[in-house]
Amino acid sequence: MRRLRQAPWVRGLVAENTLTPADLVWAVFVHDGEGRVPVGSLPGIDRLSVEEAAKAAKRAESLGIPAIALFPYIGPEGKDEEGTGAVDPDGLVPRAVRAMKAAAPGVGLITDVALDAYTSHGHDGLLDPDGTIPNDATVERLVQQALAHAKAGADVVAPSDMMDGRIAAIREAFDEEGFTNMMILAYAAKYASGFYGPYRDAIGSAQSLSGDKKTYQQDPANSDEALREVALDLAEGADMVMVKPGLPYLDIVQRVSSTFGVPTLAYQVSGEYAQIMAAAQNGWIDGDRVIMESLMCFKRAGASGIITYFAEKAAETLGA
Ligand code: PBG
Repeated sequence: MRRLRQAPWVRGLVAENTLTPADLVWAVFVHDGEGRVPVGSLPGIDRLSVEEAAKAAKRAESLGIPAIALFPYIGPEGKDEEGTGAVDPDGLVPRAVRAMKAAAPGVGLITDVALDAYTSHGHDGLLDPDGTIPNDATVERLVQQALAHAKAGADVVAPSDMMDGRIAAIREAFDEEGFTNMMILAYAAKYASGFYGPYRDAIGSAQSLSGDKKTYQQDPANSDEALREVALDLAEGADMVMVKPGLPYLDIVQRVSSTFGVPTLAYQVSGEYAQIMAAAQNGWIDGDRVIMESLMCFKRAGASGIITYFAEKAAETLGA
């Protein structure tokens, strides 16, 4: 076996998988203030103003990164019980989408559909007085949010809320309103995970989250259930599906991509980023090497693309 490993040229020739900037979706946080504000739990990651986000879109274009996934930081003053900010046609996300599209029309924009950034309780849905998250009332609100993003010029909506039936409802509303080309990337298999910790800090929902999300996100013990989720989302009109978190769930990525043969994205989430960065900063691992290795592992498992906070850095490395 070692004959084929003796030099870079032959290793490259026989490599079964490749990683290019075209595989990456850059996860970007936006905020309503000025300039860039660092996120403490994500070293090297800033929340960007709308203006900075437009620059990031241009940067993506020059690096060959095909798309950006946008996540808003909404301060306490912008949150309420019902997450009304989520459906505002002039809210932060619609404004960022318009500015980014104007700056770099060829870069795909993917928006997050869920209420957590906008609710005072930090849940992805509405919250009933008895502590339950009502499914259908939440779906109605998510449809309004998705329409606001479509009207602003987003290319893809990515419902990350894990309510039942939301893909069908969003698809129907898009068709009714003439958004027949809108793509839906369903967070089909999204697990109730501790790896989202730094993200909740980044979008300002960490302090406020009451309870956990286990009544709507999947149990990490389950794998067959992920296939049922994906089958439903595809039947309801999803164009692409996502598995989340990433590396600890590569078995799910592989099962989904081999079972369905549909575009399957994986999300290297905030806690995965933070782990790599923390160990690298301590000198315990070679960060640059581990970043590229982790991204290649997604490809090997069958992911068609990877949503990652490392996209800019990885694309720089790949282009160098
Ligand atoms: C929720 C959402 C979450 C992430 C993306 N969309 C967090 C959650 O479900 O609590 C997490 C992403 C990450 O950790 O990087 N709408």
